This record gives sequence, structure tokens and C-alpha cells, in this order.
Amino acid sequence: MYVCLCKGVTDKAIASAVAAGACSFNAVQEALGVSTQCGSCEALARAIVAELAPLPSSQFYELATPPAALAYA
Ligand code: FES
Repeated sequence: MYVCLCKGVTDKAIASAVAAGACSFNAVQEALGVSTQCGSCEALARAIVAELAPLPSSQFYELATPPAALAYA
């Protein structure tokens, strides 16, 4: 499926970029040029990257750590 018509970027191209190491929207944008013209594809492109890219370790820590109020309850 085409995600970005301006640059001809597909969801498969985004998946390939993520698999090759592009782990953020900005990295995918730099690699493929997605969402660099009219910008109407940005929300969809960001959603696809968020679905496919692994969480940065700092975000994983935030999600894995219970709030202090729950830790000692
Ligand atoms: Fe992607 Fe226009 S559709 S920049």
C-alpha cells in the first residue's frame, strides 16, 4: 500500500527501512523521504513506524517500572 504518494513510499518500504535499522520516524523519513513534501502522509507514516520499530531502551524502562505508589503498596 502506498503511504506517501508524493515520494512513492509504500508500507513495505517503511518496514524494510525499520528492519535495516531505522528505529524512529525521523530515521525513516531521512532514509526514504517520506512526508517531506505535502506532509499529508505523516500521521500514517508515524503510526506504521511506531507499530514496527522497537521501543528505545529508555521508553522500555519507563513502561517496565511501576509507579512509586504501586511499588510499595
Ligand atoms: Fe507524503 Fe505528500 S503524501 S509528502
